[in-house]
Amino acid sequence: MANSQEFDALRPFYAMEILAMAKQKEAQGIKICHLEVGEPGAQVAPEVRDAVAHALQNEVQGYTHAKGNASLRHGLVDYYRLQHKVIVDPEDILVTNGSSAGFILAFLAGFERGAKIAVTRPGYPAYLNILTSLGFEPVEIELSAAQSWRLDADAVRQTHKKCAFAGLLLASPANPTGAMIEREDLQAIVEVCRELGVRLISDEIYHGLSHGMPETTALEFGNDAIIINSFSKYYCMTGWRIGWMVLPKDLVRRTEMMAQSMFISAPSLSQLAGEVALKCRPYYDAQKAHYVSNGLVLTRALQEMGFSNVCQSDGAFYAYAQISEFSDDSVDFCQKLLERGDVATTPGIDFDRVNGNKFVRFSYAGSRDTIEDAIEKMAGFLSRPL
Ligand SMILES: Cc1ncc(COP(=O)(O)O)c(C=O)c1O
Repeated sequence: MANSQEFDALRPFYAMEILAMAKQKEAQGIKICHLEVGEPGAQVAPEVRDAVAHALQNEVQGYTHAKGNASLRHGLVDYYRLQHKVIVDPEDILVTNGSSAGFILAFLAGFERGAKIAVTRPGYPAYLNILTSLGFEPVEIELSAAQSWRLDADAVRQTHKKCAFAGLLLASPANPTGAMIEREDLQAIVEVCRELGVRLISDEIYHGLSHGMPETTALEFGNDAIIINSFSKYYCMTGWRIGWMVLPKDLVRRTEMMAQSMFISAPSLSQLAGEVALKCRPYYDAQKAHYVSNGLVLTRALQEMGFSNVCQSDGAFYAYAQISEFSDDSVDFCQKLLERGDVATTPGIDFDRVNGNKFVRFSYAGSRDTIEDAIEKMAGFLSRPL
């Protein structure tokens, strides 16, 4: 746990900086294996492409309702009914410009300005950067490899005792570890939050990408949490900038009014794409199968190369591995791996400002060829002195 003074400066998003360096090398004609950015290499489903192409030719693309098209919101109601057996009121759904816009709205609509909001460490770096940019105070809950990077109710309670916070933001599956919170543990967290008067924000962006454990939405335990989700990952739509929130009743109108002025509406073509994508699960499940087998190959190779604490994640498409065998400076390690080995990865310091120098995140959402090429290049890089 750390206080606000440690967070008052914005930090770079190192994944994006490494990406920029990799692009520079590519501009010189050098082939780079991209394992740094967490985005699927696959196209959207063919039905999505067809529907969007047709709409582009035949329909004016104007602003939509600030909460999103009714047809998309009804599609999302069906999604919750079919995947989670939960009934959601379409009026409680707000379509956003990616989950990134959802965080901004959730923090601003759900909390007093300056409120303390807990996040996990390691965790998705934008959480801290958005919170500090908006004047909120992050409180970190430290997770450990020994506990498979999983958050539990006890850690929430213990951290709250030391530093009472008004909100808790969690992700399951999580970035960068791919760790998931089991159903009964999530229920316990929801209950502890209720007892402590903490508003829960559940980032469910990696839903659809679990490797076996059933996915649970916080909505299964009531409708007092703010749910954030996105078409970016499972639906292979990072560049379409489209996501959604499911809001507790008391926040619907307030969030809608903020969204009207901040974003007007989410992109109309992306809303259509999302609506169609919801019906293309067989295509997306096939993409997931690639990630799972990529993950098995990469995890085994990392273990063989001498990385430690590498385990098969519960979901998403990341391996978070310890580099202590090679270096105690993850930024330096990733820069050298890119410069000399032509493999782009993300330094753990992006996700954990305290212990992240000991870790590197590898995204295995790309093609099998990329993974195999990267393994060969990394083995060559590690066989020479750093
Ligand atoms: C945990 C998590 N939440 C949210 C996002 C942002 O996603 P979006 O593209 O929906 O804004 C990411 C992106 O990597 C992520 O890892």
